[in-house]
Amino acid sequence: MRAFAIALFSVVALAVPAFAQEEAMPPLDHEKWSFDGPFGTFDRGALQRGFEVYSEVCSNCHSLKLMSYRDLGGPGGLGYSDDEVKAIAAQKEVTDGPNDQGEMFQRPARPSDHFVPPFPNDQANRAAHNGALPPDLSLIVKAREGGSDYIYGILTGYKPPPPGLKMPDTMQYNMHFPGHQIAMPPPLSDDVVSFADGTKATTAQEAHDVVTFLTWASEPRMEERKKTGVKVVFFLLVMTGVLYAAKRKIWADVH
Ligand code: HEC
Repeated sequence: MRAFAIALFSVVALAVPAFAQEEAMPPLDHEKWSFDGPFGTFDRGALQRGFEVYSEVCSNCHSLKLMSYRDLGGPGGLGYSDDEVKAIAAQKEVTDGPNDQGEMFQRPARPSDHFVPPFPNDQANRAAHNGALPPDLSLIVKAREGGSDYIYGILTGYKPPPPGLKMPDTMQYNMHFPGHQIAMPPPLSDDVVSFADGTKATTAQEAHDVVTFLTWASEPRMEERKKTGVKVVFFLLVMTGVLYAAKRKIWADVH
């Protein structure tokens, strides 16, 4: 009897907080993404707008270290021409060297350079954000459960905290962040950027486009991979037909 009581107590004690936590995390909405499904591709307009949002907003705090400027052009890129890519790279400065005098020097970035990070290292980045580190975004879509929908959820999930919850000054309430207290101030709002193609810059549109861009960044060869997959399946289907016909022919005389 005592053992039973203890068992019952521990089940309840363990289950109640887990349940409370569960209830407090609202499920992620599933956004409609152009890249969903086996035939999905990246919407070039969304990619370019997403890159504008990253460049003007997110890149003030977050690096994208695994990307080079040249990834923005060429097949599988964002649809920019070589000259546009050169111009985009040239807006940033990188340290190069040592030169003939043995000194380091600054020069405009070239398409072959990696994206220039906002801070020289993580410590400097933390120091600028009350100790919290804005993570590198190169693989963030792959690194978080829920992927694109989760990142979209974070960007659109800021809410006033429930009454009675004391929040530190440096923290924001966010529906979708585990624990609900996030050190990132809400980065998006209506018209925080003005899109070159004239699309209306609502918070939802900005979030949708920057998540499309970050999904591309985490797997720039996704379209190629899907195309290869479709070709392989097509080949296997044809091969199945050929082999079946061959089998019928070979065994036709045997009863
Ligand atoms: C003012 C600086 C700042 C800006 C601008 C900013 N962030 Fe952040 N971001 C942070 C900080 C700080 C964190 C770490 C939050 C934490 O750990 O509580 C963070 C965390 C994140 C995370 C990780 C959440 C997780 O699950 O760990 C994502 C994703 C993210 N930011 C995306 C973005 C995107 C996309 C943009 C641009 C639209 C952006 N951020 C703009 C400072 C910023």
